[in-house]
Formats: sequence, C-alpha cells, structure tokens
Amino acid sequence: MIPIDFTGKTVLVTGGAGFVGSNLVARIVRTGGAVIVLDDLFTGSRDNIDADIPYEFIEGSVTDYDLVRDTMARCDYVAHLAARNIIISTKNPMEDYRSNIGGTLNILMAARETKPTRIVYTSSASIYGNPRILPIAEDETPLTFSPYSVSKLAGENYCYSFYETFFVPAAVVRYSNIYGPKQNPANPYCGVISKFIQSIDHGEKPQIHGDGHQTRDFTYVDDAVEATLSALLSPRAEGMVFNIGTGTETSILDIVQTLGEVMKREIECEHIDRRDIDNIRRRVLNIERIRTRLRWQPRVTIREGLRRTVAWYYASTGKTG
Ligand SMILES: NC(=O)c1ccc[n+]([C@@H]2O[C@H](COP(=O)([O-])OP(=O)(O)OC[C@H]3O[C@@H](n4cnc5c(N)ncnc54)[C@H](O)[C@@H]3O)[C@@H](O)[C@H]2O)c1
Repeated sequence: MIPIDFTGKTVLVTGGAGFVGSNLVARIVRTGGAVIVLDDLFTGSRDNIDADIPYEFIEGSVTDYDLVRDTMARCDYVAHLAARNIIISTKNPMEDYRSNIGGTLNILMAARETKPTRIVYTSSASIYGNPRILPIAEDETPLTFSPYSVSKLAGENYCYSFYETFFVPAAVVRYSNIYGPKQNPANPYCGVISKFIQSIDHGEKPQIHGDGHQTRDFTYVDDAVEATLSALLSPRAEGMVFNIGTGTETSILDIVQTLGEVMKREIECEHIDRRDIDNIRRRVLNIERIRTRLRWQPRVTIREGLRRTVAWYYASTGKTG
C-alpha cells in the first residue's frame, strides 16, 4: 500500500459534500492535508462532513470555469468527484452533459493553467454495460447503456486525451457500487443498502427490484477512498484507468440475508418491478491492475462492511441496535 500522507498539501475535492467525497475529505484531513471542497449541494450536504473536520467550503459548480481555475490555483491535488447521478442523468441528459462532461473539461482546461501535481477523476463501472466476460478488466469494450455512462466515459476520454496532448497528470478510477456511512438512501448506486437497513429497522419488508439474483461488486467506502488517494499520490497512476472493486460478486438477495444476520432479524422481502436504470444483470470487477501497479487491495469484507454501516446507521439515528 502507498503511505497516505498529505502533510503540507492542499487538495481540492469537487463533490466533497457527497457520500464518497465526504469520506475522502475526512481521510485527507486526518493525514495532515488541507482540503477545499467545491460543491453545488445538488445531492450533497455539509452535514455529511463531521463538525470537527477543518476544511474550506465553496458553494459553486464545476461548470463555472473561472471559479474552478481560481480554486485549483490554490491546490496541489484535485480529486474530482462532482457529478450528476444516474437518476438525474436519465431524467435530464442535458443537465448530466453540462455537469459531468462540461465540469470535467473545465477541471482539465484549468489544469493546463494551474499545473496541479495530480488529478483523479472518479468514473463508474456502469461504462461496461452488460459485459461479455466476468470479472471485467479495464480493457473490456465499453457498452454505454445510459446517458450517465456516456458522460462518465467521456470524462475518462478527456482525461486521457489531456494527459497525452497537454501532459495533464490525470488518472481515472472506475468505481463499482460503493456503500457505507454517509450514504443517502436516495443514492442510486448503493442507496439500496441504506434503504434495506432503514426498512429492516422499521420492521418493513425490504423492497427488491426484480428477482434479487442480479449481482454487483459491493465495495466499502473506506476501501474506495484508500484506492482513490493511492492514485492521487502515485506518479504510476498518471494516464491510467483503474477498476475499484473487490473482485467478489454479491447478489441483492445475499445482501438482504447478511443484513438480517447482522441486524439479528428474520426478513421477508417484497419483490417489485425493476426500474429503467436496472438493466445490468451481473457485475464484478477484475482488480489486478491496481493491485499490481499501486499495491492497493480491498480490506473490508461485505459482512464487515455491512456491520460497520449498520453501526453507523444506529449511531446516526441515536439507537443502540
Ligand atoms: N457511489 C457509488 O457507488 C459510485 C459508483 C460509481 C461512480 N461513482 C462516482 O463517484 C462520484 C461520487 O459519487 P457519490 O456516490 O458520492 O455521489 P453523491 O451524489 O453523494 O456526490 C456527488 C457530489 O457532487 C456534487 N455535485 C453534483 N454536481 C455538481 C456540480 N455541477 N458542481 C459541484 N458539485 C456538484 C453533489 O452535490 C454531491 O455532493 C461521482 O462522480 C460518481 O459518478 C460513485
């Protein structure tokens, strides 16, 4: 593992008030770094960042070029997480286009002027669509099934082209489904876990879209944060794309069963119609590239990750479980 140390450095975290971003901010500050968060609070909230974490907050959009450039001029590193999510993007592809593609282009254009040490762009395993081969390696042909996956892939392509053409030191991490503390149940990627925890706690039946046999590579947020920061700190990450996952395929039914065990409840599920964004049947990522190149590997098993997420849920709702 690369030692994570930002002592004396300033990191811009776009989307830092969101689920993954807020966890990233806390980790950077704990390792001695200063953080500037740029977030338009579209889905994020300042409540996600604990009150004892010192950071500078700028409420604004990555679509504002002057703001992006002026903020980047004060930073050594950029973790670019700000994005409209898949639900917003499916409802309004133009809004997704402006934030996800336009915002990423602004970061890269500004990098030509401000010369950060490194930029990490957070992409998504959704760019793989329904893959031919599992586990999915980075060189699998993308199949962009949704406007969201189009924009996430476009951001990646811009990173690579700016790296090749203008020597902008950009790296890409492709997240699988991330879950853990601070996740809003409305979060479309993995909000399902927060929703299940809430339903089970309230004595309601967890609602499963479809038969529940669909699988994902569920990754605990601390592991995703560690991987992102390893890419931010390593020159070996520049110009590269890395899958971030666990290499383990888990079904929705497995999640519900494990939550039942962790929360010590008998669970009966309710099956409802699948949503228009549920068009991917199976997904699990091959993580050999990041294992060998950056020496990162996931540390938190699904059972342990669910146990920690449930503990956080009880603590945040003032319950003892
Ligand atoms: N959570 C996952 O499982 C997952 C999976 C794949 C990829 N990702 C990617 O990781 C990143 C973080 O995802 P998340 O789950 O934390 O989502 P999130 O919605 O919790 O966080 C995104 C943050 O970006 C902010 N934002 C959105 N548009 C903005 C804009 N134009 N300018 C400034 N801020 C803006 C939001 O207010 C929010 O705080 C995103 O880029 C997402 O595409 C996440």
